[in-house]
Formats: sequence, structure tokens, C-alpha cells
Amino acid sequence: MSRRPTLALVIAIAGIVIPLSTTDSRTFAPSDSKACLRCHGMPNFGFREKAGAWPRDLSVHADSMASGAHRAIACQSCHADVRTWPHPPSTQRRAVSCADDCHATDSTGSPYTHRAVVTAFASSAHRGGLDGTNRDAPTCLGCHQNDAHSIRPARARVPIAERMAMCETCHDDAARMHRNGVTTEAVASYRRSFHYKAIRFGETNTAVCQDCHTTHGVLPADSTRSSVARGNVATTCGRSDCHPGARMNFAMSGANHLDLRIGRSPILWFEETFFLVLTGGTMAMLLVGIALDIQRRFGWRALLRRWYAATSRWLATGTRATVRAARALLID
Ligand code: HEC
Ligand code: HEC
Ligand code: HEC
Ligand code: HEC
Ligand code: HEC
Repeated sequence: MSRRPTLALVIAIAGIVIPLSTTDSRTFAPSDSKACLRCHGMPNFGFREKAGAWPRDLSVHADSMASGAHRAIACQSCHADVRTWPHPPSTQRRAVSCADDCHATDSTGSPYTHRAVVTAFASSAHRGGLDGTNRDAPTCLGCHQNDAHSIRPARARVPIAERMAMCETCHDDAARMHRNGVTTEAVASYRRSFHYKAIRFGETNTAVCQDCHTTHGVLPADSTRSSVARGNVATTCGRSDCHPGARMNFAMSGANHLDLRIGRSPILWFEETFFLVLTGGTMAMLLVGIALDIQRRFGWRALLRRWYAATSRWLATGTRATVRAARALLID
């Protein structure tokens, strides 16, 4: 089946359908985004392929693009294979890649790509999301607004709760974690930590997932390159804006995911139970001590009798006062 459009349906806001003829073929200038937006900038710009029942939305929202991180980048810097109208068939167009297809230049005029981010991501625990081999793992667009055209500039710092939610949604999904052999307790155990509680009380300068695990280069704790590996965790916690001078023992004290460590180590379980019993026992002994002391000084029965007498006196006075007030109001 030919992908060449014979009739493109352009559905404008008012629902007007304009047929586009393929006869006025042309080649676009490399940085002429305006020419692209003449069609794609129309709201609800849709195209129905021969095989599909409904038109696909191919509109690019010029407004959200204008406030996004990619506002200065021409359409063809990313969509490098779309140089002409009619567009080349989809088999001759590669999907935009965040690493390779960038023909943009940075503010100094040097070629610009996200290769560093992509390299970190491609060797991370989440790499299956990049090449599509693991549909449970995150993708670039999955975290970045789900729309390449309205990605926010990195300078607009993502609010702390939103950054945390990026990791939480998946790692709190027990079925998804189970399928991938990852602990299902990461989020629950983090929620018991001081860091999380500080966020609940409105603190914004505390650690969320990415601060310890990094954003794009997340690795399991047993990988020596991981930011949370035994050998690196002191450096991770000891950042100058967090806990300068932190040592390994401080970092591995389990203040992040104590439950994860307790789950792994029977000694820690016994230690926790021992301290629970010790604290509970001490409190119980203290209460018994106070009770015995009261008995020795006043005697329980004498004390109860005095309390009974005081309460009945108080009740009797209260009732008399109420009766007097009612009588004053209703009879006198
Ligand atoms: C005359 C109107 C028109 C102009 C101008 C135009 N396009 Fe398109 N574009 C379409 C139509 C119709 C389709 C759907 C048919 C197709 O895929 O060829 C489309 C499809 C696309 C797609 C593929 C979407 C997909 O997922 O299948 C991309 C990407 C695209 N255009 C980018 C561009 C770029 C970049 C420019 C400017 C260099 C541009 N277009 C200029 C009408 C236009
Ligand atoms: C920073 C890179 C970048 C820029 C700049 C960019 N796009 Fe895209 N565009 C993408 C990505 C990524 C996708 C997702 C589909 C894919 O991977 O090809 C996409 C998808 C599209 C689609 C298909 C929409 C859909 O829902 O399938 C169209 C049409 C399109 N872009 C047109 C444009 C036009 C017109 C411009 C210029 C105004 C533009 N793009 C600028 C990266 C970009
Ligand atoms: C798990 C969610 C997530 C995934 C997946 C993700 N990002 Fe990010 N990205 C973020 C967050 C959050 C920030 C904001 C800064 C931070 O927290 O480190 C960010 C910042 C960025 C930045 C600007 C800061 C910098 O480090 O240069 C770029 C560029 C970027 N991401 C590109 C990508 C690319 C390309 C991919 C895919 C290879 C990707 N991201 C995948 C969450 C993600
Ligand atoms: C789209 C869902 C998703 C998001 C979002 C996500 N993860 Fe993951 N994560 C996974 C999956 C699935 C795996 C297992 C990958 C595999 O083994 O192929 C994983 C693996 C991990 C691992 C390694 C665990 C192990 O035992 O090997 C860590 C650590 C991790 N993620 C932390 C994070 C952090 C921190 C964030 C936020 C920046 C995050 N994840 C965001 C789905 C996600
Ligand atoms: C203060 C630092 C810190 C924060 C915040 C933090 N973690 Fe961790 N995380 C660690 C450390 C250190 C380890 C490894 C040591 C351990 O298991 O006790 C770890 C272990 C993990 C593991 C298991 C990795 C493995 O290889 O078994 C996952 C999954 C994980 N974290 C996800 C998350 C998610 C999701 C969040 C946010 C909701 C988060 N972490 C917040 C420091 C942190």
C-alpha cells in the first residue's frame, strides 16, 4: 500500500475539512519551521491513513513549543528526513532519536546532542526502556512530559514532589516490580525515612530518589559504578549541600530504606525487635512504678473514695444550678 497521501483531511477548529492536493510539491529550507507550522500548527490537524478509520492528530501546539526547551530548534533539526512535501514515505523516515538525530547547535555554535545523558541511560538499570526491550522500564519521553514538543527547559527546576512521583509510580507498582525481580519495598521503606517525612512537612531541600540514585544513570546497589554501591555511598551522601564529611557507616546506617536492610539481615531484625521490647518494657515498668507509688502514698481505695465524693458534689451543684435557672426562666 502506498503511503503517499492522495487526500489529507485537515480538520480545523470549526470542523471545516480542507482537502490538500499533493500537486504543489516543494522542498523546505532547513530552518524554515514556519513552513511546517502552516499545516502542523493548525489546531486539530489530522490525517487519516488509508488503513485507519480515524484521522491521527498531527498538530504541533506552537504555544507550548514556544515555552518549551526546544523553542529555538527548527523542526528539521529533529525531523531530519522530512525535507519535502509530499513527505517521504514513513519507511524512509527514521523516528527522532534523542541522541543521534540532533542537528541543532548550542549557544556557542557547537553541535548539540544529549549523548552524555543517553550514554548514562543506555548503561543504567533502565536501559530496556531506551531500546524498547522492556516495556516496564522508563523512556525519555515517559518522564519528559510525554510530548517532545513541550519538554520543559531544565532550568525550570522540577518541583521535589513531582521528581519523587516520577520514580514512585513504577516502584510502588508491586506487579511491575515483581515481574522484573526488583524489590517491592523500596518506596514503602523510603516513606518511613526522615527524608520523606521532611518533604511531607513542606521541606524542599531534602533527598528524593534521584538525589541518591541519580536521574539517568540509575544502577542496582551491587554494581560497583552505582551511586548507592557500598564504595560510593559516602561520596553520594557527603555532597557539600547534603552531609559534608559523611563516612561509609553513616551512609549505610539504613536511614534511607531501613526496611530493605532489615528484610535482608536477620541480625538487624533481632536488633529492631530487641529495641522494641526494651523500649516497651521500660515504659511498662515506669507505669507500674508510678501506680505502686500512688498506692503507697494515698492508697487506691482512699483515692477512689475522694474522687467519687468530689464528682457527686460537683454533679449535685450542677443539677441544682440548672434547676434554678430553668425555674427562673419558665416560672418566675
Ligand atoms: C502541506 C501541509 C504540510 C506541511 C507544509 C508539512 N507537513 Fe508534515 N505532514 C503533513 C501530512 C498531511 C502528514 C501525514 C501524511 C504523511 O505522513 O506523509 C504529515 C506528516 C508529518 C510527520 C509524520 C508524523 C507521523 O508520525 O507519521 C512529520 C514528522 C512531519 N509531518 C513533519 C513535518 C515537518 C518537519 C515539516 C516542515 C519541514 C512539515 N511536516 C511540513 C502535512 C504537512
Ligand atoms: C527536539 C526535537 C523536535 C523538534 C524541534 C520538533 N519535533 Fe516533532 N517530534 C519529535 C519527537 C521525538 C516526536 C515523537 C515521534 C518520533 O519519535 O518520531 C515528534 C513527533 C512529531 C509529529 C508526529 C506527532 C504524532 O503524534 O505522532 C509531527 C507531525 C511533528 N513531530 C512535527 C513537528 C513540527 C512541525 C515541528 C516544528 C514546529 C517539530 N515537530 C519539531 C521531536 C521534535
Ligand atoms: C526516570 C525519569 C527520566 C528519564 C527516563 C529520563 N529523564 Fe531526563 N530528566 C529527568 C528529570 C527529573 C530531570 C531534571 C533534572 C534532574 O532531576 O536531574 C531531567 C533532566 C534532563 C536533561 C537536562 C539536564 C541534564 O542532565 O542535562 C536532559 C538533557 C534530559 N533529561 C534528557 C533525557 C534523555 C535524552 C532521556 C532518554 C535517554 C531522558 N532524559 C530520560 C527525568 C528523566
Ligand atoms: C516506567 C517505570 C519506571 C520508572 C519511572 C522508574 N523505574 Fe526504576 N526500574 C523499573 C524497572 C522495570 C526496573 C527493572 C529493570 C530491569 O531489570 O530490566 C527498574 C530498576 C531500578 C533499579 C535497580 C533495582 C535492581 O534491583 O536491580 C533502581 C535502583 C531503580 N530502578 C530506581 C529508580 C529511580 C531512582 C527512579 C526515578 C529516577 C526510577 N527507578 C524510575 C521501572 C521504573
Ligand atoms: C537518601 C538516599 C536515598 C533515597 C532518597 C532513596 N534511596 Fe533507594 N537506595 C539507597 C541506598 C543507599 C540503597 C542501597 C542500600 C540498601 O539496600 O540498603 C538503595 C536501594 C534501592 C533499591 C534497591 C536496589 C537494589 O539493587 O537492590 C531500589 C529499587 C531503590 N533504592 C529505589 C528508590 C526509590 C524509588 C526511591 C524514591 C521513592 C529511593 N530509592 C530513595 C539510597 C536512597
